[in-house]
Amino acid sequence: MTKRIIKVFQTPRELAESCASEIADRITQSGDKNSVFSIALSGGSTPKILFGILADQYNEKINWNLVQLFWVDERCVPPVDPESNYGMTRTILLDKIAIPLKNVHRIRGEDNPFEEAKRYSNEIRGSVKIKNSLPAFDLMILGVGDDGHTASVFPYNHELLTSDKICDVSAHPVSNQNRITITGKVINNSDSVFLLVTGQNKAPVIEAIVHEKAEAAKFPASYIDPAAGPGIWMLDKAAAELIKSDL
Ligand code: 6PG
Repeated sequence: MTKRIIKVFQTPRELAESCASEIADRITQSGDKNSVFSIALSGGSTPKILFGILADQYNEKINWNLVQLFWVDERCVPPVDPESNYGMTRTILLDKIAIPLKNVHRIRGEDNPFEEAKRYSNEIRGSVKIKNSLPAFDLMILGVGDDGHTASVFPYNHELLTSDKICDVSAHPVSNQNRITITGKVINNSDSVFLLVTGQNKAPVIEAIVHEKAEAAKFPASYIDPAAGPGIWMLDKAAAELIKSDL
């Protein structure tokens, strides 16, 4: 049985407010120990709300010099492309906070995917603390798709969950757009993993994963099980509507 901490919020904004506060607390605790804090960010609509709150309310409250920012995954497009996770984060967050440029480690979506997956793997290995012979992010922010994907690990490519690579190349099953993604073992090696899930279209996937139904076996998100402690599933009411409240 995979242990999960489940937090349900009335709205996506309340979820994002709570997540932002949690992130700020952890960065402050890290600063108290005089250590840097590595975060890997995902794309998607829910992380987007979080980034807006961090930009509006946490520019002064967080010592961004302590923060090393990475991406969980990236679409293989240039950073100016509307599809770019980095481009979205840059517009909503990075342009509004005092984070040193050297602390921002983007995936170069414009480059050859296979070469970039190798380069980014080396950048992560050279910048993030190592635990269990793998990079260990202090915090990983994931989304979950309505097909049960997370990061850019889609239902048809479960091998990325157990790959020995730090990053690898995948492709979106519908658009066939190439993606670069951090792999499952590195995700599960993180000190903490937040999964931000909103919207009624996610409710069936959330129900299957949380209640460990047989169909959840095809959902990569169901394999998120960090060794350091339970994944923290932050859901809005709509995404949680099918899960039994007696959890
Ligand atoms: C991406 C994300 C992806 C996303 C989920 C959920 O590059 O698209 O990393 O894993 O987090 O698809 O996205 P929504 O929150 O928009 O549903």
